[in-house]
Amino acid sequence: MRKPFIAANWKMQKTNSETEEFLNAFLPLVRGIDDVDILIAPPFTSLETASRLMKSSNVLLGAQNVYFEESGAYTGEIAPSMLIAAGCSHVIIGHSERRQYFSETDEVVNRKIKLALTTGLKVILCIGESLEEREANRTFDVLNTQLTGSLADVQLNDITIAYEPIWAIGTGKTASNEQANDAHAYIRDWLGKNKEGADSVRIQYGGSVKPDNVKGLMAEPEVDGALVGGASLKPDSFSQIVIGARG
Ligand code: 13P
Repeated sequence: MRKPFIAANWKMQKTNSETEEFLNAFLPLVRGIDDVDILIAPPFTSLETASRLMKSSNVLLGAQNVYFEESGAYTGEIAPSMLIAAGCSHVIIGHSERRQYFSETDEVVNRKIKLALTTGLKVILCIGESLEEREANRTFDVLNTQLTGSLADVQLNDITIAYEPIWAIGTGKTASNEQANDAHAYIRDWLGKNKEGADSVRIQYGGSVKPDNVKGLMAEPEVDGALVGGASLKPDSFSQIVIGARG
């Protein structure tokens, strides 16, 4: 049995003081919940503040991106060791927005995953197809390509996969429970055929997850959690999603 894992990806939202305000309201709402893993990934500038406020809480801290070199002349980039020093246990890698707006390829994603893991971070790897690819019946091809490239020479310990169909991100258009489960089942099958330890990998669904659809998604056998954007920005809605994932 895989423990549910609910993660917030705030993207480019919330200043330090807004992060503080959120956590002061949110942490009491989820206090004592130990049957769901809860994670928040704020912008880099809020990591230290979030780490301080979350120190003795049941909420984990993640970053939204990382670089694939340990140090050096890479203006604007952040190394895995810096994230660990800032209190992160996890990092999100390969989000579709990074692939789309910042030209991240599977090869870049693979390099980031490898350095993050060897440095001691756990990774949430994002994959998912566009609407055009789904309509052309290419969803599984796309997932196969992304998994093959991103996970080359990577073991599954400390990896979570987030299946995020691009057409469902920020659109209010959630994948149906069945569409999510079918994609997750494909991913699980791929992991089983290509890697050791596929059964214990958690696969999150991401794309317009809300308090009112989380239960239906979580009832699917292959859906182990959610990666939440918009609905994670308010303490009430994010805590309701966490509570909804408890079953
Ligand atoms: P929304 O929940 O806003 O659709 O975003 C999903 C997402 O991209 C999480 O990484």
